[in-house]
Amino acid sequence: MSKQILVTGGTGYIGSHTVVELQNEGFDVVVVDDLSNSRIEVLDAIEKITGQRPKFEKFNLTDREKTNALFKKYPNIEAIIHFAAYKAVGESVEKPLEYYRNNLVSLMNLLENMKEHNVPNMVFSSSCTVYGQPDKLPVTEDTPRKPAESPYGNTKAISEDIMRDFSKATKGINCIALRYFNPIGAHPSALIGELPVGVPNNLVPFITQTAAGLRDELKIFGDDYDTPDGTAIRDYINVVDLAKAHVVAIDRLLNNKQKKSFEFFNVGTGEGYSVMQLVKTFIKVTGVNLKYSITGRRAGDIEKIWADTSYANNELGWKAEKSLEETLLSAWEWEKHVRNIK
Ligand code: WQD
Repeated sequence: MSKQILVTGGTGYIGSHTVVELQNEGFDVVVVDDLSNSRIEVLDAIEKITGQRPKFEKFNLTDREKTNALFKKYPNIEAIIHFAAYKAVGESVEKPLEYYRNNLVSLMNLLENMKEHNVPNMVFSSSCTVYGQPDKLPVTEDTPRKPAESPYGNTKAISEDIMRDFSKATKGINCIALRYFNPIGAHPSALIGELPVGVPNNLVPFITQTAAGLRDELKIFGDDYDTPDGTAIRDYINVVDLAKAHVVAIDRLLNNKQKKSFEFFNVGTGEGYSVMQLVKTFIKVTGVNLKYSITGRRAGDIEKIWADTSYANNELGWKAEKSLEETLLSAWEWEKHVRNIK
């Protein structure tokens, strides 16, 4: 009998790619999503890729009754991967209470039900944003967290503390937080990928939408940083590599390999690339003549960050494999699929 995994936010960008990898590994997947930032058609795409349609429940996890009912309906859940959260940095500054309520109440409803229904394991979607601008690079997991630049980032830090304290206080509960760096790219089938609602905040979808003619030009936010070409540096990780890290984390918990009731890992490539390097690489691999200009810095941006991945490589036994070139090409193939561009 396949082990059953609950994936919250499973029709979202990283969630959908993780559902595919879980199904590829033989897991039985239940998805819960309120579709506030994703589309039901993603289930059709997942089914096309893997041949299996995940079970699906539509509601928001801040609804305690519906969350309780979910665990009664699916009594065999062995682990949860929790993606469902609001994640727009700028929006979180304008609507802090919505972000704290949605992201924290959902998590607490899940944790309470884990205790109530003997679901021992959770893998949580955290973020390198908890480091702020690290003093030392590459950043390691023992780097102290810094006060978040946004309520969004703060919900990730508080969520980690909630899981740490709850798993310590509750026998049999084990949580792993994966601190994502910058997820980019799309599944090689080009059937699933990043599809931001409205104007993209993130760099790569803005690049691909500009290349597809939906945006006039890419604005590069600042070229006066203390970096080789003046533009900011990030650690861009392929979304399929990131999805596979979740399957490895689930395996670690299901096979009781974890060493503490709460663990966290940097999930990046270990390489830092500047905005300009991404732009130049995108142009090189796609042949698209991307229009861009340099403007002022974006408020809240940090200058540079990339991961020290040795702990995740050695302890988790996971390493990012896909190149930046392959990843940017996958993002472009996905954009062309969405916009029916040949
Ligand atoms: C990357 C670089 C921008 C857009 C955020 C969150 C993080 C995670 C990923 C959710 C920066 C520059 C961007 C543009 C640009 N979110 N840029 N022009 O800000 O590193 O991380 O998204 O999980 O938690 O903090 O990602 O893609 O927005 O920006 O020049 O139109 O690209 O200034 O240097 P970021 P990003």
